Amino acid sequence: MRIAVIGTGLIGALHARILARHGACTLVALCDIDADRAAALAAELGCRAYGDAAALFEAEELDAVTVATPEAHRHDPAVLAARRGLKMLLEKPLGRTLADVDRLVADLSDLGADPAVNFILHGDPRFARMKEIVAAGGVGRTVSTFARRRGTRLGIEKYAPWTDLLSSTLIHDIEMALSVNAAPAERVYAEAVVRACAPYGSHDAVVATLRFADGAVALFETSWVLPPTQPEPLDPAFHLIGDGGSVVIEGSSMGIKVVSETGYSQPDMAHWPIFDDGVGGALARSLDAFVTRSLAGQPPLVGLGAARRAEAVVAAMKHSIAEGRPVALAEMDGGDA
Ligand SMILES: NC(=O)c1ccc[n+]([C@@H]2O[C@H](COP(=O)([O-])OP(=O)(O)OC[C@H]3O[C@@H](n4cnc5c(N)ncnc54)[C@H](O)[C@@H]3O)[C@@H](O)[C@H]2O)c1
Repeated sequence: MRIAVIGTGLIGALHARILARHGACTLVALCDIDADRAAALAAELGCRAYGDAAALFEAEELDAVTVATPEAHRHDPAVLAARRGLKMLLEKPLGRTLADVDRLVADLSDLGADPAVNFILHGDPRFARMKEIVAAGGVGRTVSTFARRRGTRLGIEKYAPWTDLLSSTLIHDIEMALSVNAAPAERVYAEAVVRACAPYGSHDAVVATLRFADGAVALFETSWVLPPTQPEPLDPAFHLIGDGGSVVIEGSSMGIKVVSETGYSQPDMAHWPIFDDGVGGALARSLDAFVTRSLAGQPPLVGLGAARRAEAVVAAMKHSIAEGRPVALAEMDGGDA
Protein backbone atom coordinates (compact mmCIF):
# COMPACT_ATOMS: atom_id res chain seq x y z
CA MET A 1 0.00 0.00 0.00
CA ARG A 2 1.51 3.34 -1.06
CA ILE A 3 0.81 5.57 1.91
CA ALA A 4 1.43 9.12 3.17
CA VAL A 5 1.02 10.78 6.58
CA ILE A 6 -0.44 14.29 6.91
CA GLY A 7 0.56 16.07 10.13
CA THR A 8 3.90 14.96 11.54
CA GLY A 9 3.71 16.17 15.14
CA LEU A 10 3.67 13.83 18.11
CA ILE A 11 1.25 11.19 16.84
CA GLY A 12 1.81 11.65 13.10
CA ALA A 13 5.56 11.08 13.50
CA LEU A 14 4.74 7.82 15.27
CA HIS A 15 2.37 6.87 12.41
CA ALA A 16 5.22 7.53 9.98
CA ARG A 17 7.74 5.46 11.97
CA ILE A 18 5.30 2.54 12.19
CA LEU A 19 4.29 2.67 8.51
CA ALA A 20 7.92 3.04 7.34
CA ARG A 21 8.64 -0.41 8.82
CA HIS A 22 5.34 -2.05 7.90
CA GLY A 23 5.85 -5.01 5.56
CA ALA A 24 2.73 -4.27 3.50
CA CYS A 25 3.38 -0.51 3.08
CA THR A 26 5.65 1.85 1.22
CA LEU A 27 5.80 5.17 3.05
CA VAL A 28 5.82 7.51 0.05
CA ALA A 29 5.62 10.97 1.62
CA LEU A 30 4.95 13.12 4.67
CA CYS A 31 3.10 16.43 4.80
CA ASP A 32 3.06 19.15 7.45
CA ILE A 33 2.40 22.89 7.29
CA ASP A 34 5.64 23.05 9.27
CA ALA A 35 7.57 22.04 6.15
CA ASP A 36 10.91 21.81 8.00
CA ARG A 37 9.41 19.30 10.44
CA ALA A 38 8.10 17.11 7.62
CA ALA A 39 11.39 17.40 5.70
CA ALA A 40 13.54 16.38 8.69
CA LEU A 41 11.48 13.25 9.37
CA ALA A 42 11.19 12.42 5.66
CA ALA A 43 14.98 12.58 5.32
CA GLU A 44 15.32 10.15 8.22
CA LEU A 45 12.67 7.74 6.91
CA GLY A 46 13.67 7.96 3.23
CA CYS A 47 10.53 9.50 1.70
CA ARG A 48 9.44 12.84 0.19
CA ALA A 49 8.06 15.85 2.12
CA TYR A 50 5.34 18.41 1.37
CA GLY A 51 4.12 21.53 3.16
CA ASP A 52 0.59 21.35 1.81
CA ALA A 53 -1.87 18.47 1.42
CA ALA A 54 -3.14 19.61 -2.01
CA ALA A 55 0.44 19.55 -3.35
CA LEU A 56 0.96 16.08 -1.89
CA PHE A 57 -2.15 14.68 -3.62
CA GLU A 58 -1.26 16.42 -6.87
CA ALA A 59 2.26 14.99 -7.00
CA GLU A 60 2.01 11.47 -5.58
CA GLU A 61 0.30 8.22 -6.59
CA LEU A 62 -1.20 7.00 -3.32
CA ASP A 63 -3.43 4.18 -2.12
CA ALA A 64 -3.90 5.45 1.42
CA VAL A 65 -3.27 8.28 3.82
CA THR A 66 -3.35 8.90 7.56
CA VAL A 67 -4.49 12.31 8.83
CA ALA A 68 -2.86 13.31 12.12
CA THR A 69 -3.38 17.07 12.08
CA PRO A 70 -5.08 18.79 15.03
CA GLU A 71 -8.83 18.14 14.75
CA ALA A 72 -9.56 21.75 13.73
CA HIS A 73 -7.67 20.81 10.52
CA ARG A 74 -9.14 17.32 9.99
CA HIS A 75 -11.81 18.18 7.41
CA ASP A 76 -9.92 19.50 4.40
CA PRO A 77 -7.18 16.84 4.03
CA ALA A 78 -9.77 14.10 4.67
CA VAL A 79 -12.10 15.42 1.95
CA LEU A 80 -9.19 15.80 -0.51
CA ALA A 81 -8.23 12.16 0.17
CA ALA A 82 -11.84 11.02 -0.24
CA ARG A 83 -12.11 12.81 -3.60
CA ARG A 84 -9.18 10.69 -4.79
CA GLY A 85 -10.81 7.51 -3.48
CA LEU A 86 -7.98 6.81 -1.02
CA LYS A 87 -8.23 4.54 2.00
CA MET A 88 -7.80 6.67 5.09
CA LEU A 89 -7.17 6.55 8.80
CA LEU A 90 -8.27 9.70 10.63
CA GLU A 91 -7.00 10.58 14.06
CA LYS A 92 -9.65 11.11 16.70
CA PRO A 93 -11.43 13.39 17.50
CA LEU A 94 -13.09 14.29 14.20
CA GLY A 95 -13.64 17.99 14.90
CA ARG A 96 -13.82 20.74 17.51
CA THR A 97 -17.64 20.72 17.71
CA LEU A 98 -20.37 18.22 16.93
CA ALA A 99 -21.45 20.47 14.04
CA ASP A 100 -17.92 20.20 12.57
CA VAL A 101 -18.01 16.42 13.06
CA ASP A 102 -21.38 16.16 11.33
CA ARG A 103 -20.12 18.21 8.38
CA LEU A 104 -17.09 15.93 8.01
CA VAL A 105 -19.18 12.76 8.32
CA ALA A 106 -21.68 14.06 5.73
CA ASP A 107 -18.97 15.16 3.28
CA LEU A 108 -17.05 11.88 3.55
CA SER A 109 -20.22 9.79 3.29
CA ASP A 110 -21.31 11.75 0.18
CA LEU A 111 -17.95 10.85 -1.39
CA GLY A 112 -18.40 7.16 -0.50
CA ALA A 113 -15.44 7.14 1.93
CA ASP A 114 -15.37 4.67 4.82
CA PRO A 115 -12.41 5.83 6.91
CA ALA A 116 -10.99 4.18 9.99
CA VAL A 117 -10.87 6.42 13.06
CA ASN A 118 -7.86 5.85 15.30
CA PHE A 119 -9.42 4.90 18.64
CA ILE A 120 -6.32 3.03 19.73
CA LEU A 121 -7.80 1.22 22.73
CA HIS A 122 -9.14 -1.25 20.15
CA GLY A 123 -5.51 -2.07 19.36
CA ASP A 124 -4.65 -2.74 23.02
CA PRO A 125 -4.75 -6.56 23.44
CA ARG A 126 -6.44 -6.21 26.84
CA PHE A 127 -9.36 -4.28 25.34
CA ALA A 128 -9.48 -6.62 22.33
CA ARG A 129 -9.80 -9.56 24.74
CA MET A 130 -12.50 -7.74 26.75
CA LYS A 131 -14.52 -7.17 23.57
CA GLU A 132 -14.28 -10.88 22.73
CA ILE A 133 -15.35 -11.88 26.26
CA VAL A 134 -18.32 -9.50 26.13
CA ALA A 135 -19.33 -10.72 22.65
CA ALA A 136 -19.22 -14.33 23.89
CA GLY A 137 -21.56 -13.43 26.78
CA GLY A 138 -18.76 -13.72 29.36
CA VAL A 139 -19.93 -10.82 31.54
CA GLY A 140 -23.65 -11.42 31.01
CA ARG A 141 -25.71 -8.27 30.75
CA THR A 142 -23.61 -5.15 31.42
CA VAL A 143 -24.58 -3.27 34.56
CA SER A 144 -21.89 -0.65 35.25
CA THR A 145 -18.73 0.67 33.65
CA PHE A 146 -16.02 2.71 35.38
CA ALA A 147 -13.33 4.45 33.33
CA ARG A 148 -10.49 6.68 34.50
CA ARG A 149 -7.94 8.55 32.38
CA ARG A 150 -5.64 10.78 34.45
CA GLY A 151 -2.75 12.56 32.77
CA THR A 152 -0.15 14.97 34.04
CA ARG A 153 -0.31 18.76 33.73
CA LEU A 154 1.94 18.47 30.66
CA GLY A 155 -1.38 17.75 28.92
CA ILE A 156 -2.57 21.27 29.73
CA GLU A 157 0.61 22.80 28.28
CA LYS A 158 0.48 20.76 25.07
CA TYR A 159 -3.23 20.34 24.42
CA ALA A 160 -5.40 22.93 26.23
CA PRO A 161 -4.49 25.78 23.82
CA TRP A 162 -6.11 24.00 20.85
CA THR A 163 -8.26 21.12 22.11
CA ASP A 164 -9.84 20.07 25.40
CA LEU A 165 -9.77 17.31 27.98
CA LEU A 166 -12.96 15.52 26.90
CA SER A 167 -12.31 15.62 23.14
CA SER A 168 -8.64 14.69 23.36
CA THR A 169 -8.51 12.28 26.27
CA LEU A 170 -11.73 10.89 27.74
CA ILE A 171 -13.21 10.29 24.28
CA HIS A 172 -11.19 7.04 24.10
CA ASP A 173 -12.99 5.60 27.14
CA ILE A 174 -16.36 6.96 26.05
CA GLU A 175 -16.04 5.27 22.66
CA MET A 176 -14.96 1.99 24.32
CA ALA A 177 -17.84 2.12 26.82
CA LEU A 178 -20.27 2.61 23.93
CA SER A 179 -18.65 -0.28 22.08
CA VAL A 180 -19.03 -2.82 24.93
CA ASN A 181 -22.45 -1.78 26.20
CA ALA A 182 -25.26 -3.27 24.13
CA ALA A 183 -27.74 -0.41 24.41
CA PRO A 184 -27.31 3.14 23.04
CA ALA A 185 -26.34 6.05 25.31
CA GLU A 186 -29.36 7.93 26.57
CA ARG A 187 -28.32 10.66 29.03
CA VAL A 188 -25.19 12.19 30.59
CA TYR A 189 -24.48 14.38 33.59
CA ALA A 190 -21.04 15.95 33.94
CA GLU A 191 -19.30 18.26 36.41
CA ALA A 192 -15.96 19.94 35.79
CA VAL A 193 -13.15 21.65 37.67
CA VAL A 194 -11.82 24.70 35.80
CA ARG A 195 -8.64 26.26 37.19
CA ALA A 196 -5.46 26.23 35.08
CA CYS A 197 -7.59 25.65 31.97
CA ALA A 198 -9.75 28.75 32.49
CA PRO A 199 -7.89 30.81 29.82
CA TYR A 200 -8.45 28.05 27.26
CA GLY A 201 -12.15 27.31 27.84
CA SER A 202 -11.22 23.73 28.73
CA HIS A 203 -11.51 21.68 31.92
CA ASP A 204 -8.79 20.58 34.36
CA ALA A 205 -10.89 17.62 35.49
CA VAL A 206 -14.28 16.10 34.69
CA VAL A 207 -16.44 13.52 36.46
CA ALA A 208 -19.41 12.32 34.43
CA THR A 209 -22.11 9.68 34.45
CA LEU A 210 -23.72 8.12 31.39
CA ARG A 211 -26.98 6.18 31.35
CA PHE A 212 -27.69 3.61 28.64
CA ALA A 213 -31.15 2.91 27.22
CA ASP A 214 -31.25 -0.52 28.95
CA GLY A 215 -30.64 1.09 32.36
CA ALA A 216 -26.90 0.25 32.58
CA VAL A 217 -24.68 3.10 33.81
CA ALA A 218 -21.10 4.30 33.36
CA LEU A 219 -18.93 6.57 35.51
CA PHE A 220 -16.00 8.49 34.01
CA GLU A 221 -13.21 10.42 35.72
CA THR A 222 -10.54 12.31 33.81
CA SER A 223 -7.97 15.04 34.47
CA TRP A 224 -4.62 16.43 33.38
CA VAL A 225 -3.47 17.83 36.74
CA LEU A 226 -1.00 15.33 38.22
CA PRO A 227 2.65 16.46 38.51
CA PRO A 228 5.05 15.25 35.80
CA THR A 229 6.80 13.19 38.50
CA GLN A 230 3.81 10.81 38.42
CA PRO A 231 5.46 7.38 37.84
CA GLU A 232 2.99 6.27 35.15
CA PRO A 233 2.78 9.07 32.55
CA LEU A 234 -0.87 8.17 32.02
CA ASP A 235 -3.01 6.53 34.72
CA PRO A 236 -5.99 4.88 33.03
CA ALA A 237 -8.44 2.17 34.10
CA PHE A 238 -11.48 0.50 32.62
CA HIS A 239 -13.78 -1.74 34.69
CA LEU A 240 -16.75 -3.47 33.12
CA ILE A 241 -19.23 -5.13 35.49
CA GLY A 242 -21.99 -7.41 34.27
CA ASP A 243 -24.52 -9.68 35.97
CA GLY A 244 -22.46 -12.69 34.78
CA GLY A 245 -18.89 -11.51 35.32
CA SER A 246 -16.47 -8.60 35.05
CA VAL A 247 -13.35 -7.43 33.24
CA VAL A 248 -10.91 -5.05 34.97
CA ILE A 249 -8.11 -3.33 33.03
CA GLU A 250 -5.68 -1.21 35.04
CA GLY A 251 -2.82 1.07 34.09
CA SER A 252 -0.68 1.71 31.03
CA SER A 253 2.61 0.21 32.27
CA MET A 254 1.27 -3.36 32.21
CA GLY A 255 3.07 -4.19 35.44
CA ILE A 256 6.61 -3.01 34.66
CA LYS A 257 8.24 -1.04 37.51
CA VAL A 258 11.63 0.56 36.98
CA VAL A 259 13.92 1.85 39.74
CA SER A 260 17.06 3.76 38.71
CA GLU A 261 19.50 6.25 40.24
CA THR A 262 17.20 9.03 39.04
CA GLY A 263 13.92 7.69 40.36
CA TYR A 264 11.01 5.29 40.03
CA SER A 265 8.91 4.96 36.88
CA GLN A 266 6.24 2.79 35.30
CA PRO A 267 6.84 3.42 31.59
CA ASP A 268 4.08 3.21 28.98
CA MET A 269 3.88 -0.31 27.57
CA ALA A 270 0.29 -0.03 26.34
CA HIS A 271 -0.05 2.94 23.99
CA TRP A 272 3.13 3.56 21.95
CA PRO A 273 6.20 2.12 23.68
CA ILE A 274 9.31 2.88 21.62
CA PHE A 275 11.87 0.09 21.25
CA ASP A 276 15.18 -0.09 19.40
CA ASP A 277 13.37 -1.89 16.57
CA GLY A 278 10.39 0.46 16.32
CA VAL A 279 7.13 1.66 17.88
CA GLY A 280 4.89 -0.97 19.49
CA GLY A 281 1.72 -1.08 21.56
CA ALA A 282 -1.87 -0.23 20.73
CA LEU A 283 -0.93 2.43 18.17
CA ALA A 284 1.10 -0.03 16.10
CA ARG A 285 -1.67 -2.64 16.28
CA SER A 286 -4.31 -0.06 15.36
CA LEU A 287 -2.33 1.04 12.28
CA ASP A 288 -1.69 -2.58 11.35
CA ALA A 289 -5.44 -3.27 11.58
CA PHE A 290 -6.05 -0.31 9.26
CA VAL A 291 -3.54 -1.61 6.70
CA THR A 292 -4.60 -5.26 6.77
CA ARG A 293 -8.34 -4.48 6.74
CA SER A 294 -7.91 -1.96 3.91
CA LEU A 295 -6.00 -4.51 1.83
CA ALA A 296 -8.60 -7.20 2.57
CA GLY A 297 -11.52 -4.88 1.77
CA GLN A 298 -12.87 -5.25 5.31
CA PRO A 299 -14.65 -2.48 7.23
CA PRO A 300 -12.61 -0.44 9.71
CA LEU A 301 -12.25 -1.50 13.34
CA VAL A 302 -13.82 1.84 14.33
CA GLY A 303 -15.62 3.74 11.58
CA LEU A 304 -17.44 7.05 11.24
CA GLY A 305 -20.67 5.86 12.90
CA ALA A 306 -18.98 4.69 16.11
CA ALA A 307 -16.79 7.79 16.19
CA ARG A 308 -19.79 10.09 15.75
CA ARG A 309 -21.63 8.37 18.63
CA ALA A 310 -18.65 9.03 20.92
CA GLU A 311 -18.44 12.63 19.72
CA ALA A 312 -22.14 13.11 20.55
CA VAL A 313 -21.52 11.93 24.14
CA VAL A 314 -18.56 14.33 24.42
CA ALA A 315 -20.76 17.17 23.17
CA ALA A 316 -23.51 16.20 25.62
CA MET A 317 -21.01 16.21 28.50
CA LYS A 318 -19.80 19.70 27.54
CA HIS A 319 -23.41 20.84 27.33
CA SER A 320 -24.16 19.31 30.73
CA ILE A 321 -21.16 21.09 32.32
CA ALA A 322 -22.16 24.41 30.76
CA GLU A 323 -25.82 24.12 31.80
CA GLY A 324 -25.38 22.33 35.15
CA ARG A 325 -27.99 19.68 34.33
CA PRO A 326 -28.35 16.17 32.88
CA VAL A 327 -28.46 16.21 29.07
CA ALA A 328 -30.26 13.66 26.92
CA LEU A 329 -28.35 12.45 23.85
CA ALA A 330 -31.50 13.21 21.84
CA GLU A 331 -30.77 16.92 22.48
CA MET A 332 -27.54 16.54 20.49
CA ASP A 333 -29.21 15.42 17.29
CA GLY A 334 -29.31 18.94 15.91
CA GLY A 335 -25.50 18.90 15.95
CA ASP A 336 -25.30 22.43 17.35
CA ALA A 337 -23.46 21.67 20.61
N1 LIG B 1 -5.22 8.18 18.85
C1 LIG B 1 -4.45 8.62 19.83
O1 LIG B 1 -4.16 7.91 20.77
C2 LIG B 1 -3.90 10.03 19.74
C3 LIG B 1 -2.77 10.38 20.50
C4 LIG B 1 -2.27 11.68 20.39
C5 LIG B 1 -2.91 12.61 19.56
N2 LIG B 1 -4.01 12.23 18.87
C6 LIG B 1 -4.73 13.21 18.01
O2 LIG B 1 -3.92 13.54 16.89
C7 LIG B 1 -4.07 14.92 16.56
C8 LIG B 1 -2.69 15.57 16.56
O3 LIG B 1 -2.15 15.52 17.88
P1 LIG B 1 -0.58 15.69 18.16
O4 LIG B 1 -0.37 15.43 19.60
O5 LIG B 1 0.19 14.87 17.19
O6 LIG B 1 -0.41 17.24 17.83
P2 LIG B 1 0.92 17.99 17.39
O7 LIG B 1 0.69 19.45 17.63
O8 LIG B 1 2.10 17.35 18.05
O9 LIG B 1 1.03 17.70 15.82
C9 LIG B 1 0.13 18.22 14.87
C10 LIG B 1 0.91 18.48 13.56
O10 LIG B 1 -0.01 18.80 12.52
C11 LIG B 1 0.55 19.86 11.75
N3 LIG B 1 -0.54 20.53 11.03
C12 LIG B 1 -1.46 21.39 11.51
N4 LIG B 1 -2.33 21.73 10.53
C13 LIG B 1 -1.96 21.07 9.41
C14 LIG B 1 -2.45 21.00 8.08
N5 LIG B 1 -3.55 21.68 7.72
N6 LIG B 1 -1.81 20.22 7.19
C15 LIG B 1 -0.70 19.52 7.54
N7 LIG B 1 -0.18 19.55 8.80
C16 LIG B 1 -0.80 20.30 9.72
C17 LIG B 1 1.27 20.73 12.78
O11 LIG B 1 2.24 21.58 12.15
C18 LIG B 1 1.90 19.66 13.68
O12 LIG B 1 3.17 19.26 13.22
C19 LIG B 1 -5.02 15.51 17.59
O13 LIG B 1 -6.32 15.58 17.04
C20 LIG B 1 -4.98 14.52 18.74
O14 LIG B 1 -6.16 14.44 19.50
C21 LIG B 1 -4.51 10.98 18.93
